[in-house]
Amino acid sequence: MKTIVVLTGAGMSAESGISTFRDSGGLWDQYNVEDVATPEGFRKNPELVLDFYNKRRRESFGAKPNLGHTGLAAMETDFNVHVITQNVDNLHEKAGSTNVLHLHGELVKVRSVNNPDLIYTLTEDNPDIHIGDKGEDGAQLRPHIVWFGEAVPAIEEAMNIVQKADILVIIGTSLNVYPAAGLINYVKEGTPIYLIDPQEVRTNVQGVHFIRKGASEGVKELRQIVGNSRE
Ligand code: OAD
Repeated sequence: MKTIVVLTGAGMSAESGISTFRDSGGLWDQYNVEDVATPEGFRKNPELVLDFYNKRRRESFGAKPNLGHTGLAAMETDFNVHVITQNVDNLHEKAGSTNVLHLHGELVKVRSVNNPDLIYTLTEDNPDIHIGDKGEDGAQLRPHIVWFGEAVPAIEEAMNIVQKADILVIIGTSLNVYPAAGLINYVKEGTPIYLIDPQEVRTNVQGVHFIRKGASEGVKELRQIVGNSRE
């Protein structure tokens, strides 16, 4: 089976009702990124940061995968599909994708501020964390999210996966945030690259096939193009 590696961003979940970051009216129009998505912001006003992610988590629990997510999951019948996502929602998993690597963390998880390995999974009945909620080590819990200025622990694994791609697909990311945006440079020479986005996305990589559509329509078109070649 051919290996398809899919790099997704916020636009993947837009049709599920989840806001993107940099589109007009997106999250970074409504919030100051330094306040809610950096370690400094958390030190200054932890309550604001916990509240921001509590809202995102509730939104994510309530959201359903769109036809883009389910289309990618269905491609597992004919391809070895690896999803590498910058998204912190769990819509790829809800759609049935079995190989999902989260580069920027996961909303459903929280962890001790003192021990990155002490991770807890929240449930829909208990979706929030507050000041005073502690792990077994007695330390405050924080979102299991990679904030700006923090290392991206999964990046090396992501690079290795991208190197194995027979086809690379990029969906719904402005390719503004590194190191995720740099993954495109790790494909083997000659690997076909498809980029699905309704807006123009700039990349310095040559030969990208642009599919100027939203995620649902774009994945449908992608499936028509790549077919079900199992060789
Ligand atoms: P952006 O908000 O930067 O980009 C979203 C992309 O999705 C844009 O290129 C849109 O044109 C596209 N888009 C909008 N609607 C779409 C649709 N229906 N179908 C497909 N594409 C659509 O989001 P990301 O590139 O994911 O990180 O942002 C990267 C990182 O920056 C995020 O993971 C987050 C953010 O700050 C952290 O918080 C650490």
